[in-house]
Amino acid sequence: MFKSLKNRLRFHQKRIWVDASANVSKKAVLDTHTYGNGSIRIGANSRIFEFAVLSCCGGAIQIGENSTVNPFCVLYGHGGLQIGNGVRIAAQTVMIPANHKFVSTDRPIYQQGLTKKGIVIEDDVWIGAGCKILDGVTIGKGSVIGAGSVVTKSVAPYSVMVGVPAKPLYNRKDRCETTAGSEDTICDSHGSNTSI
Ligand SMILES: CC(C)(COP(=O)(O)OP(=O)(O)OC[C@H]1O[C@@H](n2cnc3c(N)ncnc32)[C@H](O)[C@@H]1OP(=O)(O)O)[C@@H](O)C(=O)NCCC(=O)NCCS
Repeated sequence: MFKSLKNRLRFHQKRIWVDASANVSKKAVLDTHTYGNGSIRIGANSRIFEFAVLSCCGGAIQIGENSTVNPFCVLYGHGGLQIGNGVRIAAQTVMIPANHKFVSTDRPIYQQGLTKKGIVIEDDVWIGAGCKILDGVTIGKGSVIGAGSVVTKSVAPYSVMVGVPAKPLYNRKDRCETTAGSEDTICDSHGSNTSI
């Protein structure tokens, strides 16, 4: 996924690698140092909009090619956050690849450490506005997550999920239609990043 990054960097500083063709708003926050050293990689033609926050918390955040992270998203990296190609993450979505441990009632929760499994968002996923994606979750290729959903478990490829907690509405493979020539098509035929 990141082969192309080797020779085509927009910038490389503080463990941040951004492809030359990617667009990161100056008003976005890319934090690789708070709570430990993390890293951020952003692939070709991806776009991070203003007021999005990518905060590694000691982990690695990887975003593939042709993906967008819209305003006011907060993406943490603790146990690792891997986002594939052609992913759309709508405004105010939060991804948290960690949980506080809270088994003991004798100590404050903040002193009990964290569990960290990591989150994977596969290619061609659309995550609606205001979703929460919790630790340990893999969202399978081609899935759609309805606005406001809380995803607590892994999602099979091509699922349409909605609700709190998110439950499957149907599988896109069961309702497959071609969109070739559709007026609704937003991306151009080269798949460039013209849609949020
Ligand atoms: C999920 C979504 C894509 C619709 O998919 P769809 O297949 O067209 O689904 P429908 O609209 O036919 O709804 C099917 C059922 O799911 C429910 N539903 C749809 N979206 C829902 C959501 N986000 N949360 C909870 N329930 C939802 C509908 O109320 C309906 O329930 P019913 O059968 O009891 O009436 C859409 O509702 C959505 O959430 N879009 C995200 C929009 C967004 O955030 N855009 C950001 C900018 S790109």
